[in-house]
Amino acid sequence: MNLYLAPLAGYTDPCYRAIVDDFHPAGMVTEMVSMRALYYKDKKTLKMLTPPREKNTSLQIFGDDPQIMETCVREYLNHLPGFVAFEINMGCPAPKIVKSRSGSGLLLDQDRAFEIIQRVKEAANRPVGVKTRKGFHEDELGMDLALRAQEAGADYLVIHGRTRDMYYEGKSDWDFIHRLAREVKIPVYGNGDIFTIQEARDRLAAKDLAGVYIGRGAIGNPWIFQGIQPSLEERIRVMMDHLDKALAYYGEKQGILEMRKHLLAYMKGLKSCKEVKVALMRAKDREEIRQILLNYQEDQIHP
Ligand SMILES: Cc1cc2nc3c(=O)[nH]c(=O)nc-3n(C[C@H](O)[C@H](O)[C@H](O)COP(=O)(O)O)c2cc1C
Repeated sequence: MNLYLAPLAGYTDPCYRAIVDDFHPAGMVTEMVSMRALYYKDKKTLKMLTPPREKNTSLQIFGDDPQIMETCVREYLNHLPGFVAFEINMGCPAPKIVKSRSGSGLLLDQDRAFEIIQRVKEAANRPVGVKTRKGFHEDELGMDLALRAQEAGADYLVIHGRTRDMYYEGKSDWDFIHRLAREVKIPVYGNGDIFTIQEARDRLAAKDLAGVYIGRGAIGNPWIFQGIQPSLEERIRVMMDHLDKALAYYGEKQGILEMRKHLLAYMKGLKSCKEVKVALMRAKDREEIRQILLNYQEDQIHP
């Protein structure tokens, strides 16, 4: 089934992608990477360009300046091995991003969006996708942008069926997504509110989508790609594996900090784990985290 790990800032780094890779998604997308920051050689941004070890990862980029984006593609991105496509973010709803006319701000400035897509596509040595939303306010500007993206040469579209004003509230409009998919000729990936493999199956049944992107449903839940409910033992194994990867990639101190949100997410919905979550947030090293999890496991077996 064509299930993709959606780009999630703060989550879909090389460590979590390595975890998800074991569950064989059709593809994965990095966190969004600022082309302006790359242009000025920001160190943290350069690290985000670490070539993927997995076979099927796309690099997500965002920016407001067509010239800067084109230069970044030619001078940096085209030389990166591994990434299968460049995906331009035209959906991020954050006020700072919108104000700078990137992310979903480009729904309101479609001439600029067109120029960005055209120049990135012309410069890029691999496929270029565009990820956007249904609209900005209560409109369907996403439809116009999809058609313009196609005209500008985009190879595929990813559509989140919410407007920018909805942020992550309300529901993703899948009728809109299917309508859009029938309106354009390039492949369309649908996105929004998929939390089980059955929901993914239902969305794909219409056969008009190339696949679905799973975002929040995959946070703390790589098993979603296989439709598996993990045992506690398996859950802890994956948590420790993920932790080890983060410690190796970020170093001891930052690795622990980066893992906090993931650890909470892995524990979501488990019974009597309130105190465990608090303890995990305070834990200072690998051994402490391992002990907290093993004690919790022991308590579940012998309450
Ligand atoms: C914490 C978080 C970070 C996100 N980061 C990105 C990002 O970097 N790029 C992007 O295109 N979308 C980003 N998104 C949006 C998701 O990719 C996805 O479009 C949205 O969450 C809806 O899908 P879902 O209901 O499956 O989560 C982010 C969403 C969340 C919750």
